[in-house]
Amino acid sequence: MLDKSYPYYLANEARTSPIMMEVYDKYSGEIATRVAVPDEQATEAAIRAAVQAAGPMKKFKPWARQAVLQHCAQRFQERHEELAMALCIEAGKPIKDAAGEVTRLIETFRIAAEEAVRVNGETLNLELAGRLDGYHGFTRRVPLGPVSFITPFNFPLNLVAHKVAPAIAAGCPFVLKPSEKTPVGALIIGQVLAETDLPKGAFSVLPLDGRHATPLVEDARLKLLSFTGGQIGWDLKARAGHKKVTLELGGNAACIVDADQGANLDRLIERLVFGAFYQSGQSCISVQRIYAHASLYEELKRRLVEAVRQLRAGDPKDPSVFLGPMIDEAAATRLESWINEAQQAGGKLLCGGKRKGNMLEATVMENVPTDAKVNRMEVFGPFVLLVPFEHIDEAFAMVNDSDYGLQAGIFTNQLSHAMRAWDELEQGGVIVNDVPSFRVDNMPYGGLKLSGTGREGVRYAIEDMTEIRLMVMRET
Ligand code: SIN
Repeated sequence: MLDKSYPYYLANEARTSPIMMEVYDKYSGEIATRVAVPDEQATEAAIRAAVQAAGPMKKFKPWARQAVLQHCAQRFQERHEELAMALCIEAGKPIKDAAGEVTRLIETFRIAAEEAVRVNGETLNLELAGRLDGYHGFTRRVPLGPVSFITPFNFPLNLVAHKVAPAIAAGCPFVLKPSEKTPVGALIIGQVLAETDLPKGAFSVLPLDGRHATPLVEDARLKLLSFTGGQIGWDLKARAGHKKVTLELGGNAACIVDADQGANLDRLIERLVFGAFYQSGQSCISVQRIYAHASLYEELKRRLVEAVRQLRAGDPKDPSVFLGPMIDEAAATRLESWINEAQQAGGKLLCGGKRKGNMLEATVMENVPTDAKVNRMEVFGPFVLLVPFEHIDEAFAMVNDSDYGLQAGIFTNQLSHAMRAWDELEQGGVIVNDVPSFRVDNMPYGGLKLSGTGREGVRYAIEDMTEIRLMVMRET
């Protein structure tokens, strides 16, 4: 269960506030808890504290950073059940998915703990010609300094972890603004960080509304902004000045089913249903478009629709429930209207499509016109469309006919098709023989086109949060 209220964290310390924000149980709609809202001065105070902490964080030794990260992983393990229930309530995430996210949170911190002691450099051979005899080059990575993070509602723990844990491993103080819809996960991470001996000012967790977050984007003292969320990220990047910007902005992930997959339909259907509908499709790599070879299209369609009709929807606290609510009614209404629009344009509804409040049925469509929003935009909800293809080239072209490029999947037994997909699909990652929704937390993760810029995944985020410092030495 949730606590009655949660403080925010300013320069490592818990703070209460006369202003409290309500956090709702996304299934029942009842107030689940309240969180303290930072006052107007808190953002400036947090940035100033992070600037002052930059020196001490840089000096904070790799083994000490590792110890902090290990402590967090240990505490999250001890609080596994409580964290899963918090997610289930504040995000409406089915309890099984919520427990899975807590496990990934722990893994992300463990990976960061390992990486913290191997932030290495290299030795360069500079003796390229006689005039350079006796010159040697060495690099190491130094922390960028104070950084800022803005995180979304759909993974309130693990997408926070993907910014916070690498920052600690890299030695960067940070100011974090979690989603107003799901601030509790980040505040519990703050509670655990406050138990550690991180240098004063190393972290602040501020459940701000968008208006008061402007300095996290624009303040020149911050050296990097890492943002996960919607297309507004590009606007933030334009306002971020000279700081580095990492954006993870989602997509309309596609999955190809090749002609040779007839014998594999059981596993395939299971993975496609999971990939399209887990946590009600509210993942940046949820399967939105399935391109299936014409020879098995009808069979795949029949079995997929049959499986989707059997998904149990309802209270996410019930372990037998697969499909919970969407984050709010506005999100569900938006997707419902896109589905209606696609139907009016000639799309055929195979199942689902109905909405009650923020519960939207798992929906499958075919014959959707390519310019329909459910094809072109990111649906971020329980929806998938099916399209047949005759030749693999057509499938590749349809996957690439998108403004996004985060991850794609291909089920195939043909090595040449797998290698071509890796080469030709305009994506941050290609998953062979599984859905694009597959992610392990040490993978490089990020996209092309409107899907964003830069990569997360602990080691890659550490690279982003550090810069190369060169030393050249001449033998005397
Ligand atoms: C996301 O929605 O971008 C995160 C997906 C994941 O971590 O599985």
